[in-house]
Amino acid sequence: MSPNIGISPKNLKKSTNILATILSNEMTLYVKTRKFHWNISGNSFMELHKLFEEQYRILEANIDEVAERISQLGEKTIGTMNEFIENSTLKESPKEYASQKNMLEELLENHEQLVTEFRDYIPVFENDNHDIGSADFITGLLQQHEKMAWVLRRYHA
Ligand SMILES: [Fe+2]
Repeated sequence: MSPNIGISPKNLKKSTNILATILSNEMTLYVKTRKFHWNISGNSFMELHKLFEEQYRILEANIDEVAERISQLGEKTIGTMNEFIENSTLKESPKEYASQKNMLEELLENHEQLVTEFRDYIPVFENDNHDIGSADFITGLLQQHEKMAWVLRRYHA
């Protein structure tokens, strides 16, 4: 049974397609942040090991919220590694082990990229799809990425 919430089936589909991209990017950044948590070394090892854990836990919670919103809007949610990679705009770096400095830079750039992409999605949700719920939800997500980016940016002198 499809949701009867004043959004046309076509617009629901447009919203859930964007949400699938967002879900994929959140997964990519979650996996990357965990990789860095596992492989961090250097003079700030324990601090950054803990910081990355704090951030991947935030991402993990967000992943669940995004996936369940897709379901709330009446669509099946993608859930395989292949689909996440296909739909992600963030890039992974297989076989590379970044320095402490480069880990911080890469995570910062990724969070900033998501903030920028989300800002473009919000008027599409709100004006094109008449989906104020997703516009508000992604605004909240954007603010969380702004905050995580701010923490990472503070490590740059
Ligand atoms: Fe751990």
